[in-house]
Amino acid sequence: MNFIVSIVVSGFIVTVLVLMPLVGVWAFDMRVLFGIIIPYLAFLTFFVGLIYRVISWGRSPVPFRIPTTGGQQKTLPWIKYNRFDNPSNTVGVIGRMIFEVLTFRSLFRNTRMEFRGGPRIGYEWEKWLWLFALMFHYSFLVVVIRHLRFFTEPIPGFVQFVAYMDSFMQTGVVPLSGFGLPALMVSGFALLGGVSLLFLRRLLLPQMRYISLPADYFPLFLITAIALTGILMRYLLKVDVVSVKELALGLVSFRPKAPEGIGVLFYIHLFLVSVLVAYFPFSKLMHLGGIFLSPTRNLSNNNRIVRHINPWNYPVTTHTYDEYEEEFRDKMVEVGIPVEKMPETPAGEEAEPAEEEAAPAEGGETEADEKGEKE
Ligand code: HEM
Repeated sequence: MNFIVSIVVSGFIVTVLVLMPLVGVWAFDMRVLFGIIIPYLAFLTFFVGLIYRVISWGRSPVPFRIPTTGGQQKTLPWIKYNRFDNPSNTVGVIGRMIFEVLTFRSLFRNTRMEFRGGPRIGYEWEKWLWLFALMFHYSFLVVVIRHLRFFTEPIPGFVQFVAYMDSFMQTGVVPLSGFGLPALMVSGFALLGGVSLLFLRRLLLPQMRYISLPADYFPLFLITAIALTGILMRYLLKVDVVSVKELALGLVSFRPKAPEGIGVLFYIHLFLVSVLVAYFPFSKLMHLGGIFLSPTRNLSNNNRIVRHINPWNYPVTTHTYDEYEEEFRDKMVEVGIPVEKMPETPAGEEAEPAEEEAAPAEGGETEADEKGEKE
């Protein structure tokens, strides 16, 4: 799909999503719908969708390990192996996972192929995606942690600590609290910055532009709208945060109520968050859960150490040579086919040797020779 069409479609959907609560709450006072019913439905969809996705992933067969990661596999003792890139046990896998989830290590190792001075190929330093992704994800996390103050009473210490660290750039008239602007929360702007840089990357790099679809632009636009409405609420068009907390506490304690006078901007913010939450399990955003279920990440590479037997193998009836000979030995001896074990004969009677055994071939071949040949 043409990238302009993708951007227009995504932008249009987000605009409609903004207009829905604007009209609904402002013109028709639908506070209960946008403040209670939709958020509950969104979280229900989120949990059901999440479980559905995890179960459907869990059901896909992974009959063997797929070590597509870089790094030397564990092998002979004098060859140095890479215990995080190609772990041979669970400890290594946990280490790899921690590095991946907390530092986006595979993105850090990303390189860009380029032609240098004609047909020569070179691999260029490429850390921008890693940097933008870190900025975006960590600021998102900090914003979400800070929001816990709306949903908890008393507010946990770690939430207060995160908010304190996040507001290290004080813009008010210090030290007189209550004067000037509220403390500037860096994470809100870092989130907006991160999401904008990720969008620009898709827009400006021709390869990225070519492969981008509405499903790539839509979450970026939706998160941008969430951050923008949040920033507007905090710094410009103030909302009644006491009533917001009343609503939020009501939602989590299952005694919901939608107090008056919060301001329509809050309902737009909450509705966009609800859409994001409901959309989450069915979108690319599910990589949050997928990373933990990815066989190339969560399985150690012990293919050379352990014999892996396909757990879905159905039982196959086999007939070994021993069983075959056991069954047909008498007949084989009768027609002179060499056997590995001569039939037992009653005491005193001498077993009549098969023809070939009785008269060895000219070259003096014995039973032992033939057996050796067969092997
Ligand atoms: C995906 C989840 C969410 C994101 C990414 C998000 C993002 C933001 C951002 C970036 C701000 C700007 C100010 C700041 O940095 O704190 C903000 C403010 C705000 N958000 Fe959210 N938000 C989310 C969920 C919610 C929810 C569920 C509520 C409902 C209680 C909410 C209510 C508010 C309010 C009331 C403000 C203004 C804060 C103030 O005036 O101090 N947000 N949000």
